[in-house]
Amino acid sequence: MKRLRVLVLVHSTLVPPNSLEGSTPQEIDEWRTEFDVISQLRAAGHDVRPLGISDSLSELRAAILEWQPDIAFNLLEEFNGIVTYDQHVVAFLELMRQPYTGCNPRGMLLSRDKVLSKQLLTYHRIPTPQFMVFPRGRRPRVPRRLRFPLFVKSSTEDASLGIAHASVVEDPRQLAERIEFIHTQTHSDALVEEYVEGRELYVGVLGNDRLTVLPIWEMTFGTLPVNLPAIATRKVKWDRRYQQKYGISTAAAKDLPEATVQRLEQMTRRIFRALHLSGYARMDFRLREDGELFVLEANANPNLSASEDFAQSALSAGIAYADLLRRIVTLGANYPAAWRAEQV
Ligand SMILES: Nc1ncnc2c1ncn2[C@@H]1O[C@H](COP(=O)(O)OP(=O)(O)O)[C@@H](O)[C@H]1O
Ligand SMILES: [Mg+2]
Repeated sequence: MKRLRVLVLVHSTLVPPNSLEGSTPQEIDEWRTEFDVISQLRAAGHDVRPLGISDSLSELRAAILEWQPDIAFNLLEEFNGIVTYDQHVVAFLELMRQPYTGCNPRGMLLSRDKVLSKQLLTYHRIPTPQFMVFPRGRRPRVPRRLRFPLFVKSSTEDASLGIAHASVVEDPRQLAERIEFIHTQTHSDALVEEYVEGRELYVGVLGNDRLTVLPIWEMTFGTLPVNLPAIATRKVKWDRRYQQKYGISTAAAKDLPEATVQRLEQMTRRIFRALHLSGYARMDFRLREDGELFVLEANANPNLSASEDFAQSALSAGIAYADLLRRIVTLGANYPAAWRAEQV
């Protein structure tokens, strides 16, 4: 690949140092993804500049105009603390006619909004748990259509923010309490779904038009006490000591029936298209004991750190980290943004 000017967009507090030396494991955890991507792109011979972004687009505009990057590598997950605003930064890149990696603004908007994406998936008859929305500022009603146990989460937050064992509720009183918790703690509407007990599966995908589905990945809950629901809470996802204590880990899913694997792959492609995703994405599924599959959500721009699920699953398919980033850059460079149509 020719040497490219790569502008890596990161959150302003996550601009990584040039080396891991002198940082504590806790510090490294914070900017691991940024570090992995930047060092890998440098190792591949590219001219790489990280740009920290917090609450202003001026520096981004200046960098695009002055440096004319071949590609903006987008690692942002929020703008000014608001997770739903990351899509607007990507929209700005399009307005600037700047090629970028990962998902386009429309796909980001549709997938970030869990309610809107479930409505779209339902239209396409892609199974997702039955649900109701409880908007902020309105008194919750008892959902007659839904059967307990229910699962309460934010309609827009990700990374399991607001998700704990108490997210699984057994009766109307617990439900009302947890809805209130989501409203006050995450400042977003509460999405209430039927709780799907079963295996937790993740499926990565790469592409714009022709899609490569990565091997099915699974989170296993080790020795987590059986009275606790086996779900990816905030602690399960991010607390290393907790993961070690209970032997919680992710790896290639074992012993899935071939028909289930095929359905997962097919559903992943259909979800990717239904939500207008591009670049790379990861779908979260639950597989019930009776074999029924449900999609929980689609993640545009999933975590790209070399040791996380997406890269590990790519690796198990023979796509090494260097190759993965090269593909993501190429997909970004080839994405048919609207402004390109004018240029032909
Ligand atoms: N309806 C549900 N039934 C069972 N578990 C769920 C349900 N919804 C979410 N979960 C659990 O909570 C985790 C986080 O939910 P998810 O919708 O993927 O949000 P996030 O964007 O925070 O990852 C899932 O990985 C799963 O373990
Ligand atoms: Mg998830």
